[in-house]
Amino acid sequence: MAGTIRDVAREAGVSQATAARALAGYGYVSPATRHRVRKAATSIGYRPNVVARSLVSGATKTIGVVVGDIENPFFAGAARGIADVLERDGYTLLLANSDEDLGRERRAVEALRARQVDGLAVVPSSGDDGAHLAAILREGRPVVLLDRPIAGLAVDAVLVDNRAGAERAVHHLASLGHRRIGLVGDSPGIVSTGERIDGYRTALAAAGAPVDDALVSLGGSTIDEGHRLARALLDRPDRPSALFTVNNFMTAGALGAIRELNLRIPEDVALVGFDDLDWTTLVDPPITVVAQPVAELGRAVAERLLERLRGDLGPPQELRLRTRLVVRGSCGGRA
Ligand code: RIB
Repeated sequence: MAGTIRDVAREAGVSQATAARALAGYGYVSPATRHRVRKAATSIGYRPNVVARSLVSGATKTIGVVVGDIENPFFAGAARGIADVLERDGYTLLLANSDEDLGRERRAVEALRARQVDGLAVVPSSGDDGAHLAAILREGRPVVLLDRPIAGLAVDAVLVDNRAGAERAVHHLASLGHRRIGLVGDSPGIVSTGERIDGYRTALAAAGAPVDDALVSLGGSTIDEGHRLARALLDRPDRPSALFTVNNFMTAGALGAIRELNLRIPEDVALVGFDDLDWTTLVDPPITVVAQPVAELGRAVAERLLERLRGDLGPPQELRLRTRLVVRGSCGGRA
C-alpha cells in the first residue's frame, strides 16, 4: 500500500509538518531537507492525498474552467492555452461544459467551487448577470472571464476586439462591391456575438450599404442552426451577395447551405467568417476569416489567475486582444 505522510516523515527523519511543507512546496524548508523528504517519498511510493493536503495548505492546486461547448475547437484551443500555463505552475485544470446554458453554467461553477478549486475561468452564457460569480469572488477565490465580459461585474476578463474584427470583415466585403451583406449568427445575448453584430451594422452604415434587419438571421449556436439560418437568407429571391458569419459553427453551417444550393463561392455568394480553424484552408476556395489569437487568449487567462493567486489585489483588468482579417478566396478578394 502507498505510504502516508507519516511514513515519509519517519523515513526522512523530520516532523510531519516539515514533510508536508517540503512535498507541497509551501513555507520554508532547507534545500537539503527538501531533497531528503522527496527521496524518502519516492522510496516508499508516497502519493499525496489532495483533499488532506488542501485541508493543511488551503490549496488544491486545481483551477476550474467552464466553457460554452467542449466540442467547439475554439474553446478547446483556449482551454489548451490555459492548461499549458497552469501546469507549469503545478496546477491541474478541471474542465466543465455549459452548452451556452446559464443554468448549466451555474451548476458547473457550483460543482467546481464545492471541489475547492483555487480559481475559476468562465465563459459567460447568454443572460449571465454574474451574481453567482460575485459570490465566488467574495470568498476570495479569483475568477477570470474568457471571451465575453459581464456588464456591471467588476472582474478580470480576457476578450478580443469583436466589434473591430467584424467591422474589418464587412468593410472588406463592401470594398469588393457587395451592398447586400447578410449576417448569420447565434444569440446576441452571447456578448461576443452581440459585439460582432454591432460591428457588422457599423461597417454597413460606414459603407453606405443598407442596414436591413431582414438580412440578419439569428438563432441557436449549433452548426445545424447555422445551416438553417443561412438557408433563410439564401432562399430569398433577393438573396444577399455576401454572408458574414459570427463564429466557426455559423461558418460551417453556412458553407453546408451554400453547397446544398449548388451556389458558387465567391461568384454567387461571398463568405467571411469569424474564427479561423484548421478546416477553413482545406475547403475550396479557402475561407476568408477573422482570426482570433485563441491560444494566447487561454494563456492570458491563466497568467491573470496566477497573478491573483500570488496575491495581486489590484483592480480588475479587461484585456482585449486584437483579431486579424485573413483574406482568402471565399470573398473574391486577393489573398
Ligand atoms: O463558437 C465559438 C465562438 O463563440 C467564438 O467565436 C468565441 O469567440 C465565442 O464567442
